[in-house]
Amino acid sequence: MPRLCCSVSRARDSGTSGNRAPGLIMLRRTRTAGDTDYFRVSLPSMNSRMEHTPKVRAVTTRRLLEMKASGTKIVCLTAYDALMASIFDQAGVDVLLVGDSLGNIVQGHETTIPVTLEDVIYHTKAVRRGASRALIVADMPFMSYQVHPDEAFRNAGRLMKEAGASAVKLEGGQRVLDAVARMTSAGIPVMGHLGLTPQSIYQFGSYRARGQDEEEAEQIYRDAIALEQAGAFAIVLEKIPATLAKRITESLHIPTIGIGAGPWCDGQILVYADMLGLTANFHPRFVRRYDNLFERITDAVRRYSEDIRRGDFPNEHESY
Ligand code: KIV
Repeated sequence: MPRLCCSVSRARDSGTSGNRAPGLIMLRRTRTAGDTDYFRVSLPSMNSRMEHTPKVRAVTTRRLLEMKASGTKIVCLTAYDALMASIFDQAGVDVLLVGDSLGNIVQGHETTIPVTLEDVIYHTKAVRRGASRALIVADMPFMSYQVHPDEAFRNAGRLMKEAGASAVKLEGGQRVLDAVARMTSAGIPVMGHLGLTPQSIYQFGSYRARGQDEEEAEQIYRDAIALEQAGAFAIVLEKIPATLAKRITESLHIPTIGIGAGPWCDGQILVYADMLGLTANFHPRFVRRYDNLFERITDAVRRYSEDIRRGDFPNEHESY
């Protein structure tokens, strides 16, 4: 029988606790054999307020404005769960977007259309538990903000209050201005999204780049100005010419976050699964792959399977 001895240690907010995520209580269970298991329990925010350890300076919308003003690029990435959120947060990502791309990446849908508000609430709660520094932005899914500004306002409120988002994002320009103004006047920070707007896929019929003719480019430019006037704190510019993104970026006081919008935006975002090479058959030119996790995971799982099949795993050191 293993002897169980429990001790509690608190991971410091400063992140000086080795590989552990900040803001967690570690319940350590020691066995006579000498190995230890860790049980992770969320640290209540009141406890962390009582701690006399240095605090992580959380990213705020105000900080993003300062970053634009000082020319510091803003690093953004999507996240849908606590594990990835804690890795990206500790790697120093400034903004974690719980994108409705979760419909493609997590749920296996062809488009983002089927994603529900409940889905985004569920994933935002998980990301909130994993991250302590990054600003967490929750995407408003299709039909959660288009029907009426009051409904949009209520739904945005749920993403903040129930899910723990620090801000919301929605797609579109002129047609969402009333909703944006309603939210921002009540203190809900809103990120806009212009250019390629995937929720309108059935209206446009393709994922082609936007703003390539003068009329469309002017409309995107006017929408960006209008979103800033309605109180948005940042705007995602997706798949538009770099020169148009530059013009918009130079005209706005709020930051632009580019995805396929060239180098002159104030920040950049990618879907993490694309950036890490998990999505094997998706190669748009705006994605730079920093790893090939599809191949590396496939290889690891093959080796694991082989070890099990030939009776090599577990061995005596991995058994009790
Ligand atoms: O849903 C999403 O991930 C997004 C980003 C691609 C900007 O909207």
